[in-house]
Amino acid sequence: MSNTPLKIGIAGLGTVGIGVIKILSEQSSIISARCGREVNVVAISAQDHTKERGFDLSNYVWHSDPLAMATNENIDVVVEVIGGSSGVAKDFIEIAIKNQKHVVTANKALIAGAGLDLARSAELAGKTIGIEAAVAGGIPIVKAIREGLSGIGIHQLFGILNGTCNYILSEMRETGRDFDEVLREAQDLGYAEADPTFDIDGIDTAHKLAILSSIAFGCEINFESVHVEGIRHISPLDIQFAKDLGYRIKLLGMAKKTKIGIQQRVHPCMVPISTPIAHVEGVYNAVVTEGSFVGQTMYEGRGAGEGPTATAIVADIIDIALARNTNLFLLPTDKLEKMHVAPMSSYRGSYYARFMVIDKTGVFATIANALNDNGVSMESVLQRGRSESEAVPVVLTTHETDEASLIRALEAIERSKVVVEPPRFIKIESF
Ligand code: HSE
Repeated sequence: MSNTPLKIGIAGLGTVGIGVIKILSEQSSIISARCGREVNVVAISAQDHTKERGFDLSNYVWHSDPLAMATNENIDVVVEVIGGSSGVAKDFIEIAIKNQKHVVTANKALIAGAGLDLARSAELAGKTIGIEAAVAGGIPIVKAIREGLSGIGIHQLFGILNGTCNYILSEMRETGRDFDEVLREAQDLGYAEADPTFDIDGIDTAHKLAILSSIAFGCEINFESVHVEGIRHISPLDIQFAKDLGYRIKLLGMAKKTKIGIQQRVHPCMVPISTPIAHVEGVYNAVVTEGSFVGQTMYEGRGAGEGPTATAIVADIIDIALARNTNLFLLPTDKLEKMHVAPMSSYRGSYYARFMVIDKTGVFATIANALNDNGVSMESVLQRGRSESEAVPVVLTTHETDEASLIRALEAIERSKVVVEPPRFIKIESF
């Protein structure tokens, strides 16, 4: 065993930072055996030194300024769990690299935006930036692509990458409650942030998807080109109809190599109940990759929280301790191709559409004519309930079409006044 311990500095002492300290301390004998050297936390940076955190802080050098810790010569690896896509977290990582430290971070927003620049800086300095914790928490998906799948070409990946959304959609389905009520409950339980925008509007999923597609397809990260829709508009009625039609609604991130480029999209979709991903429920995440030779592989686990995220951070630290240094996006930055983007307008798929109509003669005909006029072919139609005075739902599914044609048809139906509210539509995925 080497006499030289690996010395760690942790910036950010929320649940994940504390989780890293716990794992490194409680698992110290197995970790040092696996690394052939000790791995010790020597310094911590957080705002409040006086807050009770359940362990003795006097064992660590305390930096109230993380940027000062980034220059501490007694540290080999810094762990960034401050968060935020710019500002202190970015400055901290840049300064740490300039000061010859390896970096491990859980910060998907930062990597999605500034990852390429950070990867270049790390390469120049000969240092590693480990990002396993940035995507799907405790699921070792970056390692799976880097190691187990390193010899094959991945042409598609998709997954449930946000536990908050998956929890909300699962609860809505199980209890029939509406989005706002379940979101409030998720906030009370600590699953959803006080400001849940990034989660429920699909942005957090898009950050993770952009990172995965760069790694899987060997191209420069391109977060801006991800098509993003969130789950705010999903209603209990759509969830019930999905069930009746043999589907579940999931917020998926999907990236695919197509003939014209890489398509990256995040949106709620109906997935067949017969597929494994339909059964990933609650706060769980899952990722499916599809590649040559191996076909589909699926990974499932907890995507957030103290233990899962800290597990991923510690795994990156162990790689660094073993000098298994890697490029942030697996390939060196000068080998990453520019991403050719397949625009969303090139996407074709099947759709579910719901109309709230006053139940009178000619409504179906109006809907069918508008679809026909725009070249959209219906697959099935369903009406539930009968009321002369109140709106009733009519739902239909379409054969494969492009979204622009469907939207033109739905706009024509809305203009015709047979509906009492704007039609809703959700993409159907068959995989
Ligand atoms: N807020 C994320 C989620 C975890 O709900 O899955 C961190 O990305």
